[in-house]
Amino acid sequence: MNPPAPTDLVTVNIDGRDIAVPKGTNVIEAARRLGVDVPHYCYHPKLSVVGNCRMCMVEMGMPAVDPATKAPVIDPATGRQRVNWMPRPAIACATSAAPGLHIRTTSPMVRDCREGVMEFLLINHPLDCPICDQAGECRLQEQATGYGRGYSRYIEPKNVKPKRTPLGPRVMLDDERCILCSRCIRFSTEVAKDDVLGFTDRGSHTTLTCFPGRRLENNYSLNTVDICPVGALTSTDFRFKMRVWFLKQTNSIDTESSAGANTVVWSREGTVYRITPRQNDAVNDTWMADSGRVLYKEIRSPGRLDSVRVDGGQSAPAFAFKAAAETFARGRLAVVGSGRSSVEEQFLTRKLAEALRAPAWLVSRVGEGDGILVSADRNPNVRGALVTGLISGLPSAALDELAAQIDSGKVSAVVSVGEDLLAAGLGAERLSKVAVIYLGTHANATSEAARIVFPTLTVFEKDGTLVNQQFRIQRFARAVPGVAGAVDDLVVLAGLVAAAGGPALGGDVGSLWTSMAAEVPALRPLTYAGIPDEGLPLDPGPWSGLPFAEGASLHFKPGAPAPREAGRA
Ligand code: SF4
Ligand code: FES
Repeated sequence: MNPPAPTDLVTVNIDGRDIAVPKGTNVIEAARRLGVDVPHYCYHPKLSVVGNCRMCMVEMGMPAVDPATKAPVIDPATGRQRVNWMPRPAIACATSAAPGLHIRTTSPMVRDCREGVMEFLLINHPLDCPICDQAGECRLQEQATGYGRGYSRYIEPKNVKPKRTPLGPRVMLDDERCILCSRCIRFSTEVAKDDVLGFTDRGSHTTLTCFPGRRLENNYSLNTVDICPVGALTSTDFRFKMRVWFLKQTNSIDTESSAGANTVVWSREGTVYRITPRQNDAVNDTWMADSGRVLYKEIRSPGRLDSVRVDGGQSAPAFAFKAAAETFARGRLAVVGSGRSSVEEQFLTRKLAEALRAPAWLVSRVGEGDGILVSADRNPNVRGALVTGLISGLPSAALDELAAQIDSGKVSAVVSVGEDLLAAGLGAERLSKVAVIYLGTHANATSEAARIVFPTLTVFEKDGTLVNQQFRIQRFARAVPGVAGAVDDLVVLAGLVAAAGGPALGGDVGSLWTSMAAEVPALRPLTYAGIPDEGLPLDPGPWSGLPFAEGASLHFKPGAPAPREAGRA
């Protein structure tokens, strides 16, 4: 995004310091730019402003001018223009920065307001922090410590509300913890487009609930858990599994479609416990689909391949590469690459096809897009295959050409990079006519029929990059070690390239990028380490006219790639 022109900026003064911010910035965000925290609950930068928690109260004032002459009124004590402070505090979330606006965030009046709001919020809140699943990321707990009075004057019995109410299949509500901020209601209406939540009853009896006959079961329901500032909404999958402060956070990408939502994988001692969205304002804001949060379960799902196999027997990798070289020497080869592979793997798949002088295909995987963050192309990286030159056009729905070449005897051996050829429509009889070399994470009909099988890694067990529907290249990182027996895909592919008589290429991401940047025009100005956490838009030039499957979704319009960011390649 281009930086705002100076004329679009307004200067405000926060706690005695001036800062220029774009017009329309609210006071919470303006203060954030100065490193000043204005505590808040109901405000969320990606939702509408309702101003119902009152936690963000600040003092505001405007420079004084003489009503008659319009000349600045100078304070004789300081020699500076006097500020007319408003007699009452105002909420920062609903106040936009105006030229000359003065804000106090730490005055006695502001502190008194915050203590009052915290006291009211805690009146009916249960004191169950030690057993609450939100511990470690509870805004109420943090702000009670930072801005609360430290004691309560409330001696009456607390209001008791329903506990453990399932709102839907994945979200549990503990109503007594709810501070009625309405973030979950606004998210459901404004982002998920599923108007399912609302408040019922009055005053301290107000209760969050689903509308009669409805459940919170849309594919974005778990975002309400992420944005709930307290422990009222929890994930039935993650609830009581692990304390968050024990978990390591690793940046990753949602691979269920080409939308490429940015994620954080939370793991401990080799086990993944949950996946949450990572903010990227150009791709997914702060959201992700529920369906992308369970992908980590494939790491330990039944059928995981865990040993190199040749002709049905367990084998050492070196022996399998030798067997592959023998198959390659017989010629009549084909390569089936994958739109699920990383850019680095696709580059090596291309190198393998070149070394074998074999045609390469990709398996298409198209479904229905939801218009938010699950796109129609269920392959996360078809554009990576175009960028690396593995394919030159979009994959077709079926491997018809490959089938015809097998039928005609032109192809007698197929290398499949993670694709189940039977599921892709080749047919069992046709598969039995060819020698298959299969790389993949899980057993399937193709791995069963394959002569040589290399067990490889899931996206959570390796490093790499993917190019999403916006032609944005984004990195994912290894969150947990690979299962015992599995071999890094890059090591297997580099070994197969060597077995095919191709060049010796590094089997790790860093050294591969040296080769890729030298050979792939779209990647030439980049280095792996130079790709920022939020990714980088590539030039879609040569491929912009292709009829991609995706329709419009969050931050994506077909044919309108993400703008190149200022100051970046
Ligand atoms: S459940 Fe959480 S997000 Fe929803 S209104 Fe209550 S406190 Fe806010
Ligand atoms: S953040 Fe709730 S009123 Fe401003």
